[in-house]
Amino acid sequence: MNTVSTLLQQKQSGDIITMLTAYDYTTAKIMDECGVNSILIGDSLGMVMLGYENTLPVTMEDMIYHTKAVSRGAKNAFVVADMPFMSYQVSVQEAVANAGRLIKEGGANAVKLEGGADVCDRISAIVKSSIPVVAHLGLTPQSVNAFGGFKVQGKDFEHAKKLIADAIKIQEAGACAVVLEGIPAKLAEIITEKLAIPTIGIGAGNGCDGQVLVYQDMLGLTTGHIPKFAKCFADVGNLMRKGIQDYITETKLKSFPSQAHSYSIDDKIIEQLKEEF
Ligand code: KIV
Repeated sequence: MNTVSTLLQQKQSGDIITMLTAYDYTTAKIMDECGVNSILIGDSLGMVMLGYENTLPVTMEDMIYHTKAVSRGAKNAFVVADMPFMSYQVSVQEAVANAGRLIKEGGANAVKLEGGADVCDRISAIVKSSIPVVAHLGLTPQSVNAFGGFKVQGKDFEHAKKLIADAIKIQEAGACAVVLEGIPAKLAEIITEKLAIPTIGIGAGNGCDGQVLVYQDMLGLTTGHIPKFAKCFADVGNLMRKGIQDYITETKLKSFPSQAHSYSIDDKIIEQLKEEF
C-alpha cells in the first residue's frame, strides 16, 4: 500500500515514484494491478473526459464522481484528487471543506492544489485537518488566463527564483509532495535537491523524484495538440479505431455474432415452438 511515508522513503532511497492520471474504475484497476505508485484524478478530466478547452469549468461534483470510481479500482496506489478551480481560492474554510469532501465522499488519500506562497494558508489549514496535500508549481493549468496560454514557466532568473522560493514555502506549509509542471529540467533538479519532500515532474525533465503523465497522452488517445513531454508508450488510440472499424464491418456482414458468440437451444424445443406458433 502506497502512502505519504512510502513516497517519502522512495525519494530518500532514489526509487523513482510513478504516477498516472485515471478517471474511472477500470483504468484505475489496471494501473493498480500494474503497480503504479500513485493515481491522480487530475482536473485534466475536464479536457480529456468532458471535452472542455481547459480545466476551469470542472466542478467539485465532477471531481467527486470520478474520484469515487478511481478509489474503488485502486487498492494499492496512493490516490490523489485535484481540487478544481475556485474550490480553494475563495477562502481557507471553503478549501478545507472541499478537501474534506474529496477524502470523505470521493475516497481519495490526498488532495492536490495549484499555487505557491499565495496558497500556503490553504495548504497548512488542510494539513491541520489531517489531509495530505500535494502542491503543484510551474505551468499550473488553472492559471491559463493569467499566463496567456500554456507556456513553459521559470525560464528567466526572477521567475526561476520565485519558483524555488515557492517550493520551499509550500514544503514549510506542510505539503507532502509537489508536482512540477512545464519548467526547465535543470530548474526542476535544483528544486528537487533543495526539498525534503518528493517532486513529481511532468514536462520537468528526469531529475525529479517521480514522473506523472495524463494517461490519454501516454496511450495515444489524445487528439489535437500533444505536448512535447508526452511520450506515447502504446498506440491504444489506433488499436481502438481498428477494433471499432472491424466491429462495424463484421456486424454489417453478419459474420458477427457467429455461433461462438451465440447461445444454443435444443432443436426439439424449437420444433415444438414452431408447431405452436
Ligand atoms: O490535472 C492533471 O492531470 C494534472 C497533471 C497534469 C499533473 O494536474
